[in-house]
Amino acid sequence: MNKSPTQHIARLRAEIERHNHAYYVLDAPTIPDAEYDRLFRELQTLEAQHPELLTADSPTQRVGGQILDGFAPVRHAVPMLSIRTETDTEDSGATNFDTRVRNALGNAGEIEYACELKFDGLAVNLRYERGVLVQAATRGDGETGEDVTQNVRTIHCIPLHLKHCDADVIEVRGEVYMSRGDFNRYNDRQRELGLATLVNPRNGAAGSIRQLDPALAARRPLSFFAYGLGEVRGWSLPATHSGILDALQSFGMPVCGERAVVRGAAALADFHRRVAAKRDALPFDIDGVVYKVNSLALQQQLGFVSREPRWAVAHKFPAEEQLTVVRDIEIQVGRTGKLTPVAKLEPVFVGGTTVSNATLHNEGEIRRKDVHIGDTVIVRRAGDVIPEVVGVLAERRPADARAFVMPTTCPVCGSHVVREEGEADARCTGGLFCAAQRKQAILHFAGRRAMDVEGLGDKLVDQLVDEDIIHSLPDLYRLDVATLAQLSRMAEKSAQNLVAALEKSKHTTLNRFLFALGIRHVGETTAKDLARHFGKLDAIMQADHERLLSVPDVGPVVAQSLIAFFGEAHNREVVQQLRALGVHWEEHEGASTQPLPLSGKTCVLTGTLASLSRDEAKSRLEALGAKVAGSVSKKTDFVVAGTEAGSKLDKARELGVAVLNEDELMQLLKGCEES
Ligand code: IVH
Repeated sequence: MNKSPTQHIARLRAEIERHNHAYYVLDAPTIPDAEYDRLFRELQTLEAQHPELLTADSPTQRVGGQILDGFAPVRHAVPMLSIRTETDTEDSGATNFDTRVRNALGNAGEIEYACELKFDGLAVNLRYERGVLVQAATRGDGETGEDVTQNVRTIHCIPLHLKHCDADVIEVRGEVYMSRGDFNRYNDRQRELGLATLVNPRNGAAGSIRQLDPALAARRPLSFFAYGLGEVRGWSLPATHSGILDALQSFGMPVCGERAVVRGAAALADFHRRVAAKRDALPFDIDGVVYKVNSLALQQQLGFVSREPRWAVAHKFPAEEQLTVVRDIEIQVGRTGKLTPVAKLEPVFVGGTTVSNATLHNEGEIRRKDVHIGDTVIVRRAGDVIPEVVGVLAERRPADARAFVMPTTCPVCGSHVVREEGEADARCTGGLFCAAQRKQAILHFAGRRAMDVEGLGDKLVDQLVDEDIIHSLPDLYRLDVATLAQLSRMAEKSAQNLVAALEKSKHTTLNRFLFALGIRHVGETTAKDLARHFGKLDAIMQADHERLLSVPDVGPVVAQSLIAFFGEAHNREVVQQLRALGVHWEEHEGASTQPLPLSGKTCVLTGTLASLSRDEAKSRLEALGAKVAGSVSKKTDFVVAGTEAGSKLDKARELGVAVLNEDELMQLLKGCEES
């Protein structure tokens, strides 16, 4: 049956909107991208053929407007208010609010609250008339905002028309934000293109909404969460705030799932704690939580003080970003000689502690962010992550600001600094001649997850290295109580404790010892893999490239690093001395001292095998050391072709790669498994 263009277009729009909602709001795509693109193009073609049927709420009309001279003012039908903030981090924020509410209501009993997240973006008002999005405005001064309809239309999760809602007017209020994933992806792309990056997701959101070129705005990936209403006409309100959010959700509006309806102050504090604990794991930034009296009748009774509702409060978390001034940029030399520029800051309280140092990572990063000494910068400290400088306020740069220059010699030992081709990091070439590297190497060696020498902290290591008492790792085990007790700030008792701790650390495990040596690219996990696989240190020290590669998860970089490390006579000497001084562990035969029969071979399976499943074949081949890949290339050693093998077999023939049939595979497996 032939449909009329009108029907056809309507059906396509409905289907595309369903997929949009699934993808952008529910985060659960229902069809492959290619299929979506096909539907979209079909609709575009039809609309081009029937321009008279094109409407503003068609999903094809999200992008594509004129570049604006400015934003037209929009007077809000209902003012957009702000909410009072409780900044303290303790439970009292919740208690204070609950007490105020109950007092204002004449000592009412336990109050029901809707708890939500406080999104860190930009507030907007979305006006829907008879279900169609007609206008979007920023908050502005609360009375008058700016018309940002064009840009808001490019936000995919915002419906251009509401499902099951044809109220005369319904204004949805909420926050436009940029998710952390989108922020990072956007910045990665910009960096690749050599273009300007965004400082943080919040600025990203605010800047994009106020972008005059809608094509540029459309490139910035934004999202939205609804949290309230503005003007409403021709719709009967639910009795509660949570009911409003449920209704908005059923209209197809994105509403954040992290919300709760609770009773009483203790439950508010509990919500605050729960959210604080997962703050860093959320896919977007928040700066606190919001509590709202759930009953709209009680909200009305409570009313407003100045321009803030008495029925809502924001209970903030400690800010993760603050402004401060860079006093200087110093270089820190790490264990592997890496030179890290560190910003020395005017101390500032951020992320719950006072921060006076922030990493600038490397020279390239300083250039990209254009950090000068004297600049006012944004410092970020989130969770347990080390503080970093996220950006500069260029307009606050003083006239005497100085650019940073990477030193060409190590500030600690004077050795040459090199930066290898393609590497971001500059390194001191001094090795263990460099006191900074020696100190870090000792601290790493003694660390809790390495040799676990209790009581050997950085102050003591500084002293031991600076006073020339320790030159190498084995010197640690040559320390005695008399030498230690001479050091300033070292009591006899502490000296005894340290010597005892050193003695105790001598009994260790192979994986700890390997990790403790501080070989580049050999972390804790790799050290464990190596220890399990080889069982004996000598076997690791003698292993060649191929043998090392036969260890699961050991790649060429790690193998090369191990070979280089144990290839150095002085490193072998260190190991030998440590063992002579009594460092020991249990050795065993190892999981495999022989390389596996198919180590280093790559194969591809295609077609159906009669006597075993694809998975079985794969795991048996892998157990013999082979790598089973998904596609055929010149590097493939052989292809196993079952019945009905398709394009992979053709490709193998084309490239001249060996092909095994099922019988030949079975013979190979049998032969190798018996050997
Ligand atoms: S309710 C009358 N709920 O915080 C109550 N605001 O001062 C109006 N915000 O800039 C606001 N998350 O954009 C509310 N779940 C939330 C919120 C939220 C973030 C922002 C809002 C405004 C500020 C409130």
